[in-house]
Amino acid sequence: MKILVINGPNLNMLGVREPEIYGEMTLDKINEELCEFSKTLGDIELDFYQSNHEGDIVDKIQSAHKLYDGIIINPAAYTHTSVAIADAIRGVEVKTVEVHLSNINSREEYRKQSLSAPSCLGIVAGFKQDSYKMALLGLYNALKND
Ligand code: DQA
Repeated sequence: MKILVINGPNLNMLGVREPEIYGEMTLDKINEELCEFSKTLGDIELDFYQSNHEGDIVDKIQSAHKLYDGIIINPAAYTHTSVAIADAIRGVEVKTVEVHLSNINSREEYRKQSLSAPSCLGIVAGFKQDSYKMALLGLYNALKND
């Protein structure tokens, strides 16, 4: 099973960026832990991509068509603004789970709306780096039962 993990703007700054909200782990370490966790589930190949640019993220989502079985995405700030990313997820026909390190529903009003969540199979938020593992577990089980 091939899964693409996409991280949006400013997530390359994890470890430095507001650790009280996002935790102290770097993105590389989060990805490493996710790789370890994937081995406990089954035969999963993970590819990782991070970009600070909306169009590049749209291109990457589109490139998953027929190449990947699933996508895990943290669109970061684009969660709340990007119709383009929401449309790309809806259009690519690859099961997608949205992830957030923080609980976006307990923060500022403008973070409570996710434009991308309705295009996704599910959403996991609020468990810092563990959100990615929970997303992978849910996605893996959903794809296995397809
Ligand atoms: C985030 C939440 C977003 O509101 C924020 O802009 C981020 C990270 C999260 O993982 O908690 O950059 O997606």
